[in-house]
Amino acid sequence: KTYNAAGRKRIVVTKPLPGDLWLNRLIDADCKVEVYTATDVLGVDALRAAIGTRCDAVLGQLTESWNDALFAALKSAGGKAFSNVAVGYDNVDVEAATRYGIAVGNTPGVLTETTAQMAVALTFAAARRIGEAERFLRAGKFKGWMMTLLLGELLWRKTVGVIGAGRIGSAYARMMVEGHKTNLIYYSPHPHPDLEADIAAYADFLVSRRQKPVSCKRADTIEDVLREADCVSLHAALNESTYHLINAERLALMKENALLVNTSRGPLIDEAALVEHLRKHPNFRAGLDVFEDEPDLKPGLSELDNVVIVPHIASATRWTREGMATLAAGNAIGVLSGCPAWNKPDI
Ligand code: DGY
Repeated sequence: KTYNAAGRKRIVVTKPLPGDLWLNRLIDADCKVEVYTATDVLGVDALRAAIGTRCDAVLGQLTESWNDALFAALKSAGGKAFSNVAVGYDNVDVEAATRYGIAVGNTPGVLTETTAQMAVALTFAAARRIGEAERFLRAGKFKGWMMTLLLGELLWRKTVGVIGAGRIGSAYARMMVEGHKTNLIYYSPHPHPDLEADIAAYADFLVSRRQKPVSCKRADTIEDVLREADCVSLHAALNESTYHLINAERLALMKENALLVNTSRGPLIDEAALVEHLRKHPNFRAGLDVFEDEPDLKPGLSELDNVVIVPHIASATRWTREGMATLAAGNAIGVLSGCPAWNKPDI
């Protein structure tokens, strides 16, 4: 579908985007906007065909693999910008893009609280067995209130572990600590003094109310987090060093009744090892928004009752998705107009 056919810059949008602010911004910036509407994920050939012989910028999706060949095609079509409509950019060969002089943008900020909220939702859905309970009810198995029915875990005043305490990890940590009085243990390559100061201030507030304080500690190793926490939430970017960060050996370090939550990228977890671990430890639970081979799930995962699974929707609120689309359009416009105000990957 083409908008503003008379526009002087040609922008390819590889999938429909929500709202219309992003489109209006592109049209106001004198762009002809071509939106591809295929429901399938576009492969390299389809993307190359979409780029064609002239294309100034592309707004692309995290499901597409933006590799050297595609950036070469974009470069020879006169392209200057590739805007990933996502905060994560593991689908983008940023080094190749840079070599071809193509600026890469992403969409941080607008999805921070939205994604952290989903991590909290999955935490409690797993801890309180909500998926399992709903299936039980819908199957007509509920025969009346029972003291022993579907007992879960209470995370109040327990210890939450966060691996990767950037924007989303820190937001999740604050929601858990301030909402549920949990202690925090986090692993991150860098210290996060703002997060630590906020939690210290909250601990002081609790003491001023004659309540037990909460604690916050930066762990030396991922293993320390896994051993100590009652619930571990993953918030790291996917790259070579984080691939299968959670494997069988590391799962074995976690408490028997711990929870593992993932809203970042599926390949952070060795999913086959997780299936095995969930099978062997019925009191261990997981809450997953992302999967190793999306959209497929590893055999056995969806049959397990001790896992809650949703289809990569952690940032899926209307406000956030419209914000992501608008930021992505703004990034492309910023590059094409020589304005430095655009969001680039933190590399
Ligand atoms: C991202 O932006 O990287 C998420 O996975 C989708 O919002």
